Amino acid sequence: MSKTDIEEIKQIIGKTYELPTLPIITAQIMELTSNPETSAQDISEIISVDQALTTKVLRLANSAYYGFPQQIGTITHALVILGFEEIRNLVFTTSVIHTFSSNENSETFNHKEFWEHSLGCALAAKTIAKALRYRISGKVFIAGLIHDIGKIILDQYMHNLFVQIVKKTQQDNISIYQAEKEIMGITHAEIGAELAKNWNLPKDIEEAINFHHTPKKATIDPQLTAIIHLSDILSRMKSIGYGGDNKIPTVCPSVWKTLKLLKSDLNKTYILYFVSLFDDELKKTQNFFKIIDYQ
Ligand SMILES: [Fe+2]
Ligand SMILES: [Fe+2]
Repeated sequence: MSKTDIEEIKQIIGKTYELPTLPIITAQIMELTSNPETSAQDISEIISVDQALTTKVLRLANSAYYGFPQQIGTITHALVILGFEEIRNLVFTTSVIHTFSSNENSETFNHKEFWEHSLGCALAAKTIAKALRYRISGKVFIAGLIHDIGKIILDQYMHNLFVQIVKKTQQDNISIYQAEKEIMGITHAEIGAELAKNWNLPKDIEEAINFHHTPKKATIDPQLTAIIHLSDILSRMKSIGYGGDNKIPTVCPSVWKTLKLLKSDLNKTYILYFVSLFDDELKKTQNFFKIIDYQ
């Protein structure tokens, strides 16, 4: 692919009006939940304006995943019981999946399986962050959920190009990442990072998306990127959903060095420990996967 084509792609990505914007409510919730002065009442008032969102969030809050015996009937109640961060994650998940939903089912790309892979990565990231006591664990879920969002942008906005990429992935038995590099010169990682920038998401989340296949390049928060890199691999190891190819990438050795700062005895054998923790998390999560509305 020539340089002009790459520039063209970059231009398409750069045009914010071409891409879906993050719903205002979600953007407001993201901002409010990061402000320590926000009250449950403030958040509840914003969510409650959107009836569809309220219903979806309450359905998730009442799922067996959280296991509360009593019915949670209002957003305020859900906020008290589950906390700001969990509700923010639920709002973000619901809203992002809805934003990219389409009535036409792409033959190239199964959206449900894509979101399952992404949710798998988000849950793995949460599990690893907890095990390592990573300080800003609130960000890992969101970074994990949208780490591959570039693939959905390619499918919806540059469909013909994406069909070529998927074909090459199958024909040459290579990863989507590799096929993208060969065909476009850029990958879903950079495309996803552009979207994160357009959505004004924190810079470290944008970086984690950008470098989830090349974690060595991270400079803002290498630990967050390392966690997302590992979580993507964990989600693939457990065959959760489908990330677009059957390749399980090898763990970049740099992540062990980066994460040693959180746990001094960390080494590559820890992958097995993370897999076992993730297995336990998945046992609780089955129901959660089922009730997400993927359309
Ligand atoms: Fe990826
Ligand atoms: Fe992935």
